[in-house]
Amino acid sequence: MAANAILFFLLFATLMSVDTQASQSNCPPAKCGHGAPEIRFPFRLKGQQPHHCGQPGFELSCNENTTMIHFPSYGDLVVKSISYHMKKLDLLDPGNCVHGVFLNLNLSLSPFRYYYVVKNYKYINCSARLPSSSFSEIPCLSTGSRDHHIYTVKSSLGVPFSCREVKTIAIPFAYSPYLSDNSFGLGLTWNNLSGCDHQDCKANTTQKGIMSNSGFLNIAQDAGLL
Ligand SMILES: *[C@@H]1O[C@H](CO)[C@@H](O)[C@H](O)[C@H]1NC(C)=O
Ligand SMILES: *[C@@H]1O[C@H](CO)[C@@H](O)[C@H](O)[C@H]1NC(C)=O
Ligand SMILES: *[C@@H]1O[C@H](CO)[C@@H](O)[C@H](O)[C@H]1NC(C)=O
Ligand SMILES: *[C@@H]1O[C@H](CO)[C@@H](O)[C@H](O)[C@H]1NC(C)=O
Ligand SMILES: *[C@@H]1O[C@H](CO)[C@@H](O)[C@H](O)[C@H]1NC(C)=O
Repeated sequence: MAANAILFFLLFATLMSVDTQASQSNCPPAKCGHGAPEIRFPFRLKGQQPHHCGQPGFELSCNENTTMIHFPSYGDLVVKSISYHMKKLDLLDPGNCVHGVFLNLNLSLSPFRYYYVVKNYKYINCSARLPSSSFSEIPCLSTGSRDHHIYTVKSSLGVPFSCREVKTIAIPFAYSPYLSDNSFGLGLTWNNLSGCDHQDCKANTTQKGIMSNSGFLNIAQDAGLL
């Protein structure tokens, strides 16, 4: 019983010090609106949370009550949700053209990569329609002109007559009219925070604040205290 009490006290003291640390670093979580994703380390709400609250490349902004992330290679995408546990960011393209995002988004200088396994596909730009029995035109990349039709094809496929290759890139999904909405496949993950994978960096951040009351209760329960 006494041992349990001591263990309880130690856990409690640890929790308190973590909480104090989190508030010292002055990074209360932020949100763009009611129901919007909670923004905390490694993310940071630009203009509202100071630099030390987030990692470079993880800056978010609000457009009214919508959470946005900016990619220099593409522009702004909407942040639908953030799972800190899975390190997953679910995005939505305001332009409603996910395969346009895949075509242009270059994640190599960002801290993110696709959450899904990627495979090389070839984007082709055709002056004539390909047989719709075997090829699905990407409407959002083909609109505005009668004389070009954009498709994603297997990278091993030769470029059909009347088409030219736009780019071969590694993307999560080939275009399919059945899987197309404004967010399907737009999941990113992050890991391995540059310059922040050692202990004292982690200790400085609110990341430890994830050790919330419910986490504490779980641990206390596991230890048979409650
Ligand atoms: C965002 O704000 C607009 C009006 O400003 C409102 O119509 C909309 O429901 C809000 N969305 C959310 C997710 O709160
Ligand atoms: C992405 O950007 C990097 C660095 O600017 C560049 O080396 C690479 O070729 C680009 N990738 C694609 C697919 O354009
Ligand atoms: C496809 O080709 C047409 C004609 O050259 C061009 O205007 C259009 O921008 C191209 N589209 C893409 C996505 O490369
Ligand atoms: C961190 O990322 C780099 C490049 O993405 C990779 O080479 C390295 O193995 C990763 N390190 C760890 C500890 O995951
Ligand atoms: C963490 O905080 C300590 C002291 O508060 C500081 O010396 C150290 O540089 C910080 N580490 C990082 C990675 O910010």
